[in-house]
Amino acid sequence: MDAIHLSLLEPEQVAAAVALDQQCLGGLWTADGYVREIDSSNSVLLVLTTNLAEEPEPSLIGLGCVWMILDEAHITTLAVHPARRGRGLGQLLLTALMQAAWQRQMHWATLEVRASNAGAIALYHKFGFISLGLRPRYYQNPEEDALILWRKGLQEPDFADTLREWWNWVGDRQRRHGWHLIPTQLPIQTEAGESVFSAIPLDIGIFS
Ligand SMILES: CC(C)(COP(=O)(O)OP(=O)(O)OC[C@H]1O[C@@H](n2cnc3c(N)ncnc32)[C@H](O)[C@@H]1OP(=O)(O)O)[C@@H](O)C(=O)NCCC(=O)NCCS
Repeated sequence: MDAIHLSLLEPEQVAAAVALDQQCLGGLWTADGYVREIDSSNSVLLVLTTNLAEEPEPSLIGLGCVWMILDEAHITTLAVHPARRGRGLGQLLLTALMQAAWQRQMHWATLEVRASNAGAIALYHKFGFISLGLRPRYYQNPEEDALILWRKGLQEPDFADTLREWWNWVGDRQRRHGWHLIPTQLPIQTEAGESVFSAIPLDIGIFS
């Protein structure tokens, strides 16, 4: 079974993150931008890498980032390599970002998405995001409106069960594709600045 690793972006992976960003997001952030995210205690930037027997180097195939601002989790980036789409990896990254937001005591998750990006919008709807507004002509090249999506309830008592359900989807999907997910322990800083370890590897029980 091939392995997919979920971990925080490391400095030596910044060039690969920039390359994936250019390919999937049209160059949202520069290398300096990614380094700033690594250094920011308000940001959690996760990456997916594969280490296939036929490939000499691990390759970075997905990334997702969330900023913690007051009690709002702002999902700023989500991208999966074009050759790896449609296999549940976007769902995997979004589940991990939502878990990070939950652990950091965020109440809401929000993001902007191009109004024409039907695939991404369908993904966010699956996770309970709803559209609560529009930013006219927010994007350039091509110019387009942004939908503002929100997801409430991250600190409701049932949200931990919802996360477990999402991880179960992700696990089933990955197993169907013959992939084994290896979550590296993910230190996530609390608001008090101390590092805690994400519950992803242990609590959720999909990782056989
Ligand atoms: C959006 C993106 C991250 C999705 O990644 P992915 O790995 O292909 O997504 P998944 O396979 O996990 O899809 C999960 C769900 O999202 C929806 N979805 C994803 N791509 C879709 C598409 N092209 N059309 C319709 N629905 C789609 C479906 O509901 C899908 O569930 P299903 O497979 O059970 O039908 C990926 O297409 C991407 O990187 N796009 C370019 C960057 C981008 O637009 N990012 C979002 C910025 S806000």
